Amino acid sequence: MTGLPTDRDSFGSKFGVIAATAGSAVGLGNIWRFPLVTTQNGGGAFLLLYIGFVLIIGIPVMLSEFSIGRRAQQNAFGSFKKLAPKTPWFMVGFLGILTAFAILAFYSTVAGWTFEYLFQSISGKLLTVDNMEENFSDFSTGTVRPLFWQLLVMLITGVVVYAGIKKGIEKFTKILMPVLVLLILFVAVRSVTLEGAMEGVRYLFLPDWSVVNFKTVLMALGQAAFSLSIGMGTLITYGSYIQKDNHLLSTSTQVALTDTFVAILSSLMVIPAIFAFSDVVVSDLSPGPGLVFEVLPNVFNAMPGGVIFSAIFFGLLSLAALTSTISVLEVVVAWLKEELRLTRKAATIIASISITLLGILATLSFGELREFTIFGKTIFGLLDYASANIMLTFGALLIVIFVGWKMGESDFLEEISNRGTIQSVFFKIIFYIIRYIAPVAIGIITIANFFISGIV
Ligand code: PFF
Repeated sequence: MTGLPTDRDSFGSKFGVIAATAGSAVGLGNIWRFPLVTTQNGGGAFLLLYIGFVLIIGIPVMLSEFSIGRRAQQNAFGSFKKLAPKTPWFMVGFLGILTAFAILAFYSTVAGWTFEYLFQSISGKLLTVDNMEENFSDFSTGTVRPLFWQLLVMLITGVVVYAGIKKGIEKFTKILMPVLVLLILFVAVRSVTLEGAMEGVRYLFLPDWSVVNFKTVLMALGQAAFSLSIGMGTLITYGSYIQKDNHLLSTSTQVALTDTFVAILSSLMVIPAIFAFSDVVVSDLSPGPGLVFEVLPNVFNAMPGGVIFSAIFFGLLSLAALTSTISVLEVVVAWLKEELRLTRKAATIIASISITLLGILATLSFGELREFTIFGKTIFGLLDYASANIMLTFGALLIVIFVGWKMGESDFLEEISNRGTIQSVFFKIIFYIIRYIAPVAIGIITIANFFISGIV
């Protein structure tokens, strides 16, 4: 492809690409969702399914997105318009923009909660709380405090995105990601070395195949897509900022492995500590915020040096959330900037404000808007469910069909081999996975999802 715009910002280094992409992947999905989903869906059995999906579907979809973005040098919407002009494929990009709106709206609510808990940890308040359930429900059903933290999250996200790719996103994630991984490792080591923790480790890893059913398979794929940030154009957008000499397969593999490693470490940080310090039955926990905002604070309170661990835990959760929110906002900003020819500043302000407005509704759906439901779900519940379980898997399906059947083998291979300058036996295999295996696997799950969700 020639005639690339020369004024386009880009990542400055290979480590920068990995830090930014792993920053997007590692987030609340790893620390808040993964431990709970794993323990409630068969432990080691779920883990095996999950790892299978990451390798067979996750990496090929990541690579598909990177190759689309880097080839087109455009935002998620513009990339499809450029690679498949005068066809309806641009709608896949548009679906990605909508998904970004949905994800950031509810994600910024939870990110705001982590900020509140970081604040409560540092100020010492959390240590004095007797009833953690009440503490969380008083806070989350309120108006001013949760909205204040959500606005702060969106403000920080907006400032980093406004600063651009090299000077904003790359700089921010290059510093934070190594810190984050080290902190998680530190807390995980502490957790598994507590007395009584081994029972939790066993509980986490022992496979219980009796609970595995089709819904589990579906959850494993949904979780893998959400966790790897695939299926909505984040990686198309980031791919468009990657230099032409970057080894995309190696980058994708490193990011997918880091993300999976952090998800497992997060489970090791959370579950064994619960076994060591509380009488909560993990399998009885309901999905949702309870584990991190109710059970864990009790664990920290019972643990020697708990204040420090609690501050570190909520600190790292907040940082992990921020390195993800910036990647989602960038999808919308890049689209507005390039399609409407706005400046980065104007695009960032418009995107941040409009997503925040939807986000406010998500936050209030725990309080003032609790009674307001659509399809039996609150606004938060609907945004969470629709984005992770429906929009992302559907997006991933369309992306692999695009690369496998529209972009085609020679363009794809040319892109991932850096115009033939690198070779790998995996390139062709991956293309065949993208063309045949991934669409069938994701397709079956996507269709089943519609039935299970009651939409059909
Ligand atoms: N991968 C993030 C997490 O696991 O928390 C969430 C996310 C970020 C999903 C960016 C999608 C995305 F585009």
